[in-house]
Amino acid sequence: IILDGKSYKFPVIEGSEGEKAIDIAKLRDLTGYVTLDTGYKNTGATKSAITFLDGEQGILRYRGYPIEQLASKASFLEVSYLLIYGELPTTSQLENFKERIRKHTNLHEDIKKVFDGFPSSAHPMGVLSSAVSSLTAYYPGSIDPTANDDEVDMTIVRLMAKLPTIAAWSYRNSKGQPLMYPKPKLGYCENFLYMMFGQPNEDFELDPVVVEALNTLFILHADHEQNCSTSTVRIVGSAHASLYSSIAAGINALWGPLHGGANQEVIEMLEEIKASGISTKDYIAKVKTKEVRLMGFGHRVYKNFDPRAKIIKKACDDILNKLGVKDPALEIAKELEQAALSDPYFVERKLYPNVDFYSGIIYKALGLRSDLFTVMFAIGRLPGWIAQWKELRDAKEPIGRPRQIYTGYTERDYVSI
Ligand code: MLT
Repeated sequence: IILDGKSYKFPVIEGSEGEKAIDIAKLRDLTGYVTLDTGYKNTGATKSAITFLDGEQGILRYRGYPIEQLASKASFLEVSYLLIYGELPTTSQLENFKERIRKHTNLHEDIKKVFDGFPSSAHPMGVLSSAVSSLTAYYPGSIDPTANDDEVDMTIVRLMAKLPTIAAWSYRNSKGQPLMYPKPKLGYCENFLYMMFGQPNEDFELDPVVVEALNTLFILHADHEQNCSTSTVRIVGSAHASLYSSIAAGINALWGPLHGGANQEVIEMLEEIKASGISTKDYIAKVKTKEVRLMGFGHRVYKNFDPRAKIIKKACDDILNKLGVKDPALEIAKELEQAALSDPYFVERKLYPNVDFYSGIIYKALGLRSDLFTVMFAIGRLPGWIAQWKELRDAKEPIGRPRQIYTGYTERDYVSI
């Protein structure tokens, strides 16, 4: 490093994901105090009062409430209310919230044409984000940046109500099946399952085990502070883009295999291991020589067990047992976890299973195709994205503009070819 014309050599610290950083303490010894510019690489400098996570300790809390308590005791809509409005609802507040959502679950008939325009081979995440963007056309008031708080709240309720319907319709469209209208008397998770798997004019039996599993998974995915999709929602929202457009942008960010798309990759990896007959020991050896990747392991923030992965692992065992499903993918996943956690290569690099490692196995047991896993993540993450967008709006934050450090040429003269 050259500082004021003098060159210094610094020890380099290597992070678990191969990131390199200079030793700040050493730099300070030589140069005095330095300002660490967190804006350079990400939006780590954002202030927020929604979700607390401590990657060293493996702690995750929504508005102060531990994720373990919420996942085992609360309903998804209760947690959504908490994230969006800041406090747990009273009984009547929750009833009112549910009632408003129930009233807006249906989609405008013309939105069907949006679905019709896609080939059945379209990835449902692309359909989901397009359909969410299209809501601005049906609710033009949502694009008015001067809309009052009641109007904004209406958009929040509409979005919470309509996303599961959009998701279910994109699934049915991809299967060439008739779209199912929501059943107002059903709860949030029940309605979604009904629109996905029910058939017109037939009774649809809802399995309470499946409903409970979905409720838990949605809660566990509901927010995770400033990650790729959330900071996308915030930055798009900071330009005063409508809530629908900001959420559509977040859905596109989540789609990436390094973010929400990872649970689809995990299940595909587990299926491949099963099909190829390779032992988990040999697979781990190949991971170490970087011939293959161990999907669903490691996290940018957690240097410990992802607290959500612990809950999901247990839920996975319970649900498969209750449903009487025997999935070799679960055995392979457990063996991989066991092999990795007792191997210094993974221990030293602090690579632990993350939220995506077991979630796909549950989704599969619930009868969902792997390209729908990220759609499920998006439904779960919706209240978190909304809360982050609302927080930014309420605080009247200025437009986001990530700090750039220019690393290119200083000046060059153009010479024509
Ligand atoms: C998430 O839940 O969004 C993922 O763990 C990714 C992240 O937080 O960086």
